[in-house]
Amino acid sequence: MNQADLIWMNGEFVAWEDAKVHVLTHALHYGTGVFEGVRAYETARGAAVFRHQDHIDRLFKSAQMYYMDVPFSKEQIREATLDLIARNSLKSCYIRPVVYRGAGPMGLYPLDCPVDVFIAVWQWGSYLGDEGKRNGIRAGVVSWRKIGQDALIPLAKANGQYLNSVLAKVESEKAGFEEGILLDQRGFVCEGTGENLFIVKDGKIATPGFNSSILGGINRLSAITIARDLGYEVVERDVARGELYLADEIYMTGTAAELTPIREIDNQPIGTGEPGPITRAVQEVFEDALHGRSERYADWLDLVPQPASAP
Ligand SMILES: Cc1ncc(COP(=O)(O)O)c(C=O)c1O
Repeated sequence: MNQADLIWMNGEFVAWEDAKVHVLTHALHYGTGVFEGVRAYETARGAAVFRHQDHIDRLFKSAQMYYMDVPFSKEQIREATLDLIARNSLKSCYIRPVVYRGAGPMGLYPLDCPVDVFIAVWQWGSYLGDEGKRNGIRAGVVSWRKIGQDALIPLAKANGQYLNSVLAKVESEKAGFEEGILLDQRGFVCEGTGENLFIVKDGKIATPGFNSSILGGINRLSAITIARDLGYEVVERDVARGELYLADEIYMTGTAAELTPIREIDNQPIGTGEPGPITRAVQEVFEDALHGRSERYADWLDLVPQPASAP
């Protein structure tokens, strides 16, 4: 990990080494926090945060679902993030805001603990690798099922919930796959450990919906918009496990992984075993949108203000 100079904590900019929490931080014991993964890209007009407002909106919704009032406004979080990127002189970066229950009374009732916030930024390459983005990755369906709607809130991006993804990730890595795919409680396809999933069959695109306990991915929405704008039909529906093996193409989307094709699942080649034409078409426009090369999707980018140049 490439460390940055500064981290934003509860309204202050602090040095990376000094960004510390108390051992009795409630979230450390019980997972009582919510977070976002956001990226800023280098564009011709400087660093720009992709779909910034959508990520901040989801952060606040996640916090609300877990009874946390964020002690800053959405605009304060937005400005703090832009300022943090500028102060760290980063042209592109990953952004991790976390809203969590801080040090306070122990025990499971969290509402008497403070709500603390930090934002960290660092340089981070594509999560599943550039080679994976180019040629596709090998994925495997894991034995762990995605957390059910009756146990936790899959559409909230909450820290404790990620133990589910951690188990799935470790299992898939140990089995020799680059990513794990979870089924939902009913046995339908849900998503990757940190990505939403799309399958292409006979020119049509399908992706699991909220019935399958997915996280409502922001890149999922972007990929749906782009595919529809390119003229493809995209439906949200239950996807059976067997459809993975019969698909012509499969790809994943997520802030960390961006748009990554899948070339093999459970040792079965997908289609020709190489990223297919629809995956490529959506990926190309998506990459243009991320890097500010697309007029059409220019309003998905929140530009980091440039320091005023000397007279
Ligand atoms: C479980 C899970 N699903 C899907 C996604 C993709 O969401 P997004 O596109 O908003 O990054 C993520 C990443 O945030 C995730 O952690």
